[in-house]
Amino acid sequence: MKSEASTVEEMAILLLLLCCFLAVKSSPMPHPDMITQLPGQPQVGFQQFSGYVTVDDKKGKALFYYFVEAEIDCASKPLVLWLNGGPGCSSLGVGAFSENGPFRPNGQGLVRNEHSWNREANVLYLETPVGVGFSFADDSSSYDAVSDAITARDNLVFLQRWFLQFPQYRDRNLFITGESYAGHYVPQLAELMIQFNKKEKLFNLKGIALGNPVLEYATDLNSRAEYFWSHGLISDSTYKLFTSFCNYSRYVSEYYRDAVSPICSKVMSQVSRETSRFVDKYDVTLDVCISSVLSQSRIISPQQNAERIDVCIEDETVNYLNRQDVQKALHARLVGVRRWLVCSDILDYQLLDIEIPTISIVGSLIKEGITVLVYSGDQDSVIPLTGSRSLVHGLAKQLRLNATTPYRVWFAGQQVGGWTQVYGNLLSFATIRGASHEAPFSQPERSLVLFKSFLEGRPLPEVF
Ligand SMILES: *[C@@H]1O[C@H](CO)[C@@H](O)[C@H](O)[C@H]1NC(C)=O
Ligand SMILES: *[C@@H]1O[C@H](CO)[C@@H](O)[C@H](O)[C@H]1NC(C)=O
Repeated sequence: MKSEASTVEEMAILLLLLCCFLAVKSSPMPHPDMITQLPGQPQVGFQQFSGYVTVDDKKGKALFYYFVEAEIDCASKPLVLWLNGGPGCSSLGVGAFSENGPFRPNGQGLVRNEHSWNREANVLYLETPVGVGFSFADDSSSYDAVSDAITARDNLVFLQRWFLQFPQYRDRNLFITGESYAGHYVPQLAELMIQFNKKEKLFNLKGIALGNPVLEYATDLNSRAEYFWSHGLISDSTYKLFTSFCNYSRYVSEYYRDAVSPICSKVMSQVSRETSRFVDKYDVTLDVCISSVLSQSRIISPQQNAERIDVCIEDETVNYLNRQDVQKALHARLVGVRRWLVCSDILDYQLLDIEIPTISIVGSLIKEGITVLVYSGDQDSVIPLTGSRSLVHGLAKQLRLNATTPYRVWFAGQQVGGWTQVYGNLLSFATIRGASHEAPFSQPERSLVLFKSFLEGRPLPEVF
């Protein structure tokens, strides 16, 4: 029995190696960015690469990437770029090592993520803009006044130059995915690609997927009040204040202009007092990690009957990525910073760019035939599903796209994975039931089902 199983396993690994071997065969030597093995990593049959691509020679701006090939059939599976938001947070630490990458740090080593997105695609994680994670610039003035426009341009140059190193992926079907503030990064990058393609066809862009994205800041931020209220985080009277005297978009707008009015200050302190700092706003049902900021306050109920997810994964990722042996294996360097951080503290981003609406860019992409999926982890109060759903619905109406799939449930693992609605077969909205702002972290299986359907252009499972 045992030997039979291991033979099958060995054969499977052989096939996997063959697949990736073919992909590498075109270059005479292994790519210098190829990762031999990450410290504590279980054996796998796919290749990984990481390193730097210079995006501005004069200023010495270099972006760090981590690329994992698909587990099976990497030579035919699509290429997917994943971006985290912030602005200023790392796609390596959050996306790859906490959400949808092949491994998660655990104690001294790494454990496999059974629902890694590289089951369905070759996934490229990019730390962007410079100043985030291992990405750097020689001149620290490059960290000042970084905007959406600069970020999109650097991301475009990154991909152009990355294709020079990985030419076998150039013509592959390309999808861009991301979450949160990547609701800005992704459509803005896609728009530049479409413009670039008009001069020289380079990007075989097929679709974009956006998780709990900022698409129109007033709609997105103001849906928070109702979310707090309906989930019992604030009282009836505070809800009234938060929707009349000072709403959240007004507060944020004043805050970023350094001009918080007395009334907004009063309303916000009332809201904060009621919601409390002991609830994770990115997942109102998730326990918070006690080992980090809250170590003094024992407020968490110890038992939970459902399968435990590691709420302290951020700490583990920080520890892992700050190990010298890990940095060496990743070909990563710390330039101008002492430690790798989840979210940058040297980047000075133009935060008022949050007010730039990107839902209209999403509309123009649809007109170019690009498939769009907007999905929402339904336990997130930061960018709640209700704002995203109404923005998608409004866009469909504006583009005169009829509902091709009426609002209905979809299934994963014999349970309702969430709800979905599709417009004109190009624009879809889906919720992921029980998922946080970082949906693939808290609902990995459901997220993978959604991701697979999106890539294949198929409707979400209608039955279990
Ligand atoms: C939020 O407040 C601003 C400024 O008072 C106002 O213009 C806007 O209509 C409000 N939005 C909502 C959804 O209440
Ligand atoms: C969308 O629905 C409307 C109303 O049912 C119909 O008149 C129109 O032809 C439909 N448009 C498309 C593109 O199918």
